[in-house]
Amino acid sequence: MLRIRDLHTSYGAVQVLRGVSFDVPEGQVVTLLGGNGSGKSTTLKSIMGVAPAHAGQIEFMGKEIRGLKPQAIVPMGIVTVPQGRRLFAPLTVQENLRLGAFCRRDRSEIRKDFENVFSRFPDVRTWLSRKGNQLSVGQQQLVAFGRGLMGRPRLMLLDEPSAGLAPILVAKLGEIIREIARSGTTILLVEQNVHLALSIASYGYVLRDGKIALAEPAEKLRGNEAVTKQYLGG
Ligand SMILES: Nc1ncnc2c1ncn2[C@@H]1O[C@H](COP(=O)(O)OP(=O)(O)OP(=O)(O)O)[C@@H](O)[C@H]1O
Ligand SMILES: [Mg+2]
Repeated sequence: MLRIRDLHTSYGAVQVLRGVSFDVPEGQVVTLLGGNGSGKSTTLKSIMGVAPAHAGQIEFMGKEIRGLKPQAIVPMGIVTVPQGRRLFAPLTVQENLRLGAFCRRDRSEIRKDFENVFSRFPDVRTWLSRKGNQLSVGQQQLVAFGRGLMGRPRLMLLDEPSAGLAPILVAKLGEIIREIARSGTTILLVEQNVHLALSIASYGYVLRDGKIALAEPAEKLRGNEAVTKQYLGG
């Protein structure tokens, strides 16, 4: 579904990605691991067209998308739930959710998407008139997922969804991600919580020095002490 080859991304003179290649097959959960500042978010931003990917291929459903703008990429079915959730604080939950369908005007379909979000996350319905900054971190994360689902993603890019969540919510989050995957959305998951990521994903990649240093089935990575030592609590 997503095929990345030899991707290079730089911020000015600072080169972050130096030839990243990996695949996300349809229907799977794939995790991208790596230390702080290794370029995980930059990889996701490059896919969405918001970081300057200046060389390489980003192929989605057989189509080259590198160089396209996010306004063109989102309607193709790629949606991101960004690091730090990025809700708009002065907007209500309802308005934040509506933003997830920003490129569409089909009101009855959007209504259905709202209902889909409420059926997944019933509590969200009760927060609709609250402002983004009147929610706890856990509540914000649910709304950020809801906003992503409003875009009817075929592929969801999740950037550190467990960051800042209480342990009990982390377990719940794992279930939410599995459920989204079961309902047919492919997932690329970036996580600092390696245990969580490897318990959900079927395959994992480790990013180091701007390249993929390791690519293995999640099961194998779970047993790889070098990986778990380096990234667990590290
Ligand atoms: N907009 C930007 N301009 C300049 N440098 C940036 C920008 N965004 C990120 N960087 C730098 O690029 C490198 C990779 O950052 P990135 O956010 O992709 O890492 P990450 O793996 O997501 O890290 P973290 O685990 O902290 O989220 C870092 O050195 C960071 O300082
Ligand atoms: Mg990041």
